[in-house]
Amino acid sequence: RSVAAIPTEVPAPRRVQNRQLPAPAAPTDRFENTPDTDPALAPNREWAAGIRARMASSTLGVDTLAARRIGTATELDETIAGAVSAAAAWRDLGSDGRAAILHRAGDVLEARRAELLEVMGAEAGKVIEQGDPEVSEAIDFAHYYAESARALAGVDGAAFEPVDLTVVTPPWNFPVAIPAGSTLAALAAGSAVILKPASQSARCGAVLAEALWEAGVPREVLRLVTLADRALGAQLVADERVGRVILTGGYETAELFRSFRRDLPLLAETSGKNAIIVTPSADLDLAAKDVAYSAFGHAGQKCSAASLVILVGTAGTSERFRRQLLDAVSGYEVGAPWEGPSRIGPLIGPAEGKLLRALTALEPGQSWLLEPERLDEAGAMWRPGIRDGVRPGSEFHLTEYFGPVLGIMTAATLDEAIDLVNAIEYGLTSGLHSLDEAEVARWLERIEAGNAYVNRGTTGAIVQRQPFGGWKRSAVGAGTKAGGPSYLFGLGTWRDAPVTA
Ligand code: SER
Repeated sequence: RSVAAIPTEVPAPRRVQNRQLPAPAAPTDRFENTPDTDPALAPNREWAAGIRARMASSTLGVDTLAARRIGTATELDETIAGAVSAAAAWRDLGSDGRAAILHRAGDVLEARRAELLEVMGAEAGKVIEQGDPEVSEAIDFAHYYAESARALAGVDGAAFEPVDLTVVTPPWNFPVAIPAGSTLAALAAGSAVILKPASQSARCGAVLAEALWEAGVPREVLRLVTLADRALGAQLVADERVGRVILTGGYETAELFRSFRRDLPLLAETSGKNAIIVTPSADLDLAAKDVAYSAFGHAGQKCSAASLVILVGTAGTSERFRRQLLDAVSGYEVGAPWEGPSRIGPLIGPAEGKLLRALTALEPGQSWLLEPERLDEAGAMWRPGIRDGVRPGSEFHLTEYFGPVLGIMTAATLDEAIDLVNAIEYGLTSGLHSLDEAEVARWLERIEAGNAYVNRGTTGAIVQRQPFGGWKRSAVGAGTKAGGPSYLFGLGTWRDAPVTA
């Protein structure tokens, strides 16, 4: 017997040795990305207006029967035991049986697109322009992981053994796509799931879970819970019956989870402080547009958001780039998701602490290219800000803020700019705008980031095309990439694995 190990990529088929077994179907064979809703078409704009009209008074997901509210340690223990005992039948359904249900889940999510957008706007402040691609991503995860499960089953001579139980703890900023991706991956692998949505977006979690149950995922296999207090959270994460915890959240939360259990089987995508480098060879108009969208889409509340733009050499002194950036941002409407089509909604809560500081106070040497403007009493709605003159080693250079504020830095050379990026302790996404092949090659060789994007913004990774995951303090534990060929490997182990060279 060969040693079971988690290969880093899908093991190569061994067709020569066994012609009887089907070759593993790469997910690419059958997978197609789901299109977003095109707002250029008048009927789509009317459809969106109808959703906005329902948002303000929406009660979707309010039905607390969907989620089990766990108030005691005994209730939690029962829920864990129940999920574990449901896992065997789910695994024994086989990858084809599970894939059929997951494909149906993709179809149900598509049929419920309008509902999902309604609850995302109502509960989490997500504007339709931002929410619509997120629903597409959730649908992509369903179909992609369905085929990934089949691919795992088709690996000759090796059996993939899923963990019995996966706990999923997603964030509020992608309240549908991230819980959907983690949950669907675990289900595809053959694991039962306890999903605990972020408290700020629990209703989104409820509508998502209802869609998966409607598609045929048994309620015993997928359990939606809310927890009465933090001690129950610690108990859930620390329980030895939990085979994997998938966390998307801050680095500190990953550390906290690890303090609950020494050998915690954690798969965590954590914080980011992401930069886009613009060189003199770049298409500056395109760069300005991509920087603006990456920095301010969803009010900058994305782990993938660009928080810095680093201008190299003559690009650094470029008045044209700054003008184009201001021009791009001036077209951004700010408003509540139900008020009208807009790109920037409210923050998840009033800006406070370091984010409030970033929106209001300059550090030495800095000036506002665009001063942020508070639009509401509470301090949750802001017109975005851009600060110029951010210095190496300053707080703004190194801190994640999760809000609508961008900093401009300058560097004499591309290597100096890369040094500024690599000095940051996180490494989630990174961007380069350059039309020079040698610069692109140099940047790719040196940049420390999980997702490296050339001549594109840093947000909105597309399932299969841009598997998503971090490096350095942006990933903790089994750092496989969501929406990529090896993500399911993190959710089980191989028995009789083929020996990979
Ligand atoms: N996957 C999201 C993005 O790429 C972040 O979680 O923007």
